[in-house]
Amino acid sequence: MRISTLTFEGQTPSLAPDRTAITIQTERLTWKLEVDAERRLRHVSFGNQTELDPNWPVHELYPAAGSGWILEPALRAVHANGDTSTDLRYIAHRVQEVDANVTLTEIQTKDPVYPFFVTHWFRSYREENVVEHWTEIRHEESGPVRLTAYASSGMTLPPDEYYVTQFHGDWGREMTMAEEKLGYGIKILDTKLGVRAHQFRQPGFLLAKGGPAREKESEIIGGTLAWPSNFQFLFEMNAPDERAIDNQLHVRAGMNPYAADYQLPPNEVFKTPAMIWSYSTTGAGDLSRQMHRWGRRYGLREGDRTRATLLNNWEATFFDFDDKKIVSLFDGAASLGIELFLLDDGWFGIKYPRNDDSQGLGDWAPNPAKFPNGMEVVAQEALKRGIRFGIWIEPEMINPRSELYEAHPDWVVRQASREPLLRRNQMVLDLTNPEVEAYVFKLLDDLLTQNPSVSFVKWDSNRYINQPGSAYLAPEHQSHLFVDFGRAVLRIFERLAAAHPKVDLMICSGGGARADYGTLRHAHEFWASDMTDPVHRVRIQWGYSQLFPTIAVAAHVTRWGKRPLKFAIDVALSGRFGMDIDVDKMTEEEKAVARLGVATAKQIREVVHFGDLYRLESPYAGPRASLVYASQDKSRAIVFVYPLKGTDAGLLKLEGLEYGRSYTVRELNLAPDAPRRLSAEGKRVTGAELMENGLSLPALGEMDSLVIEFSD
Ligand code: DGJ
Repeated sequence: MRISTLTFEGQTPSLAPDRTAITIQTERLTWKLEVDAERRLRHVSFGNQTELDPNWPVHELYPAAGSGWILEPALRAVHANGDTSTDLRYIAHRVQEVDANVTLTEIQTKDPVYPFFVTHWFRSYREENVVEHWTEIRHEESGPVRLTAYASSGMTLPPDEYYVTQFHGDWGREMTMAEEKLGYGIKILDTKLGVRAHQFRQPGFLLAKGGPAREKESEIIGGTLAWPSNFQFLFEMNAPDERAIDNQLHVRAGMNPYAADYQLPPNEVFKTPAMIWSYSTTGAGDLSRQMHRWGRRYGLREGDRTRATLLNNWEATFFDFDDKKIVSLFDGAASLGIELFLLDDGWFGIKYPRNDDSQGLGDWAPNPAKFPNGMEVVAQEALKRGIRFGIWIEPEMINPRSELYEAHPDWVVRQASREPLLRRNQMVLDLTNPEVEAYVFKLLDDLLTQNPSVSFVKWDSNRYINQPGSAYLAPEHQSHLFVDFGRAVLRIFERLAAAHPKVDLMICSGGGARADYGTLRHAHEFWASDMTDPVHRVRIQWGYSQLFPTIAVAAHVTRWGKRPLKFAIDVALSGRFGMDIDVDKMTEEEKAVARLGVATAKQIREVVHFGDLYRLESPYAGPRASLVYASQDKSRAIVFVYPLKGTDAGLLKLEGLEYGRSYTVRELNLAPDAPRRLSAEGKRVTGAELMENGLSLPALGEMDSLVIEFSD
């Protein structure tokens, strides 16, 4: 590791003779900062953008409120003596080359008047063109400092037209993409839900310059916050005026300060979550591929490891099962070639058996009526059949009808003076209480230690916080709840991953309401949505693909929408493939289709999970969606074509192949005796032909999907 400490050492800001540049550099992203003559840390440019005029007083990297700044600040602090102003000046910085790909830049700033410090951290990833930015806030004042705004990151972009794409939705329609041109004033994308925090909006966005985002041409920035609780992205643009606060775009990103004032005691470090930035001048497709590579390499747990095909019993049985039914599903899974079984909600509860969603959450012991011999014995039945075994758990939650609630009624998030508002009959455990946090970790640790055959966990969370009160937090600390809750959850994930490194973790939140890189650092994947009707799933998976790699996106075949089974399988094949169907109730014909689908998943996952994704036709733009994954060495590619309406015969231009290479074309996931539909079937075609002229597709009926392999 090389460490270089540069310029301006010392604690007392004084005029610097020259401006000092600090550059965060990756292969294709240059983020220029500058220390000016007054030692302010200024944002100069991000990417190829015009450098901002150094004389304008309006683009500090991290403007603090109260010392001249009149727009939305990155930081607002009320000092121990009641002073509401903060002024941050550069102290020093250092650059550490962590390895050949990763550089860590630390920049220290301090208020000249108070012992109040903000340290910036930038971790840049050279090959992936990704930069993480977060801050650490600390002080040595005589009493607590109240923080009322504490962004992780931000920037100022030069005057232009900007288009922001957000990912909004709700249960069953996660990651709906909506783009709009930013106008004057403030546009906020946020969530205030605390838990299941991303139910209505995912913590990421795309920001295109000069026009709407395009797949191949735009100059575009992607941002996503590594944080499972409340977030806020704020975009502020002002009309030109004589004070030169013109139509630059100011972006602030971090935890949501809404109802979250934080009393920071002296010498405690307040660390903000990392804001993850990516940048491309060649469009959203390139930006996503960078994020995918980064995600697999750094953002997920074991992003380089092959994922198992999975059978889940939720849609198959809901709460209605026992050990015999589960074992019969193991047989079904084995007969289809599936490698992992996931036992969903409903396996637990003794005094309050969990036979519907009205009770039992909190009591994580197997229901003896369903599992008279316990869980481990059942798990071993799976192993005997060559199948791994996983369980569902919702450890942050509690039903009032549970033994845990009877023992600890004060362990829940609620406002003591009001009737608790239940959602799905449940409440949220108060993880701001260290005793509760320790309890939740221990219950998970014990469960996995006592059931060593469990090698997969689905961690669900099915309600949000709408009465943010804690019996543990002092009155003046009640507003810490959202921040402290998020931190406690991340600590539990981290400890769980460390204590049980061989147990895979799927994150779920009533579908996909917890999908963020703070969580995913400790997890392998997330359940993208309870919406498994493949027609809707095509759009949902399209949305996730903007910022998350396919290997993280769990996609299961179910009966939803009563669509053709092959179409449902083809859609799940462009995710981490699984099924959620009662195999016992499938016809022999359906089983044959499913068996082929599972075999295809295994055959193509190397390319789909580790290859580069090129999105070809958007489900938002026309009747057909299509995408291609190309292996890193470009020797293989898999194309998915999803006609959501009938489409005419025509050419589909591919991307991501090697021009001079020829490929054998073969339709996959097709029964051996089924008619071949592609005129190029079995032929050798060059990458140049496929990318310049296109692949000839037949007329396709609605949901008449194609999975096509191109191989050396
Ligand atoms: C919500 C999840 O999204 C479903 O997949 C399932 O696990 C249920 N919860 C179980 O209660």
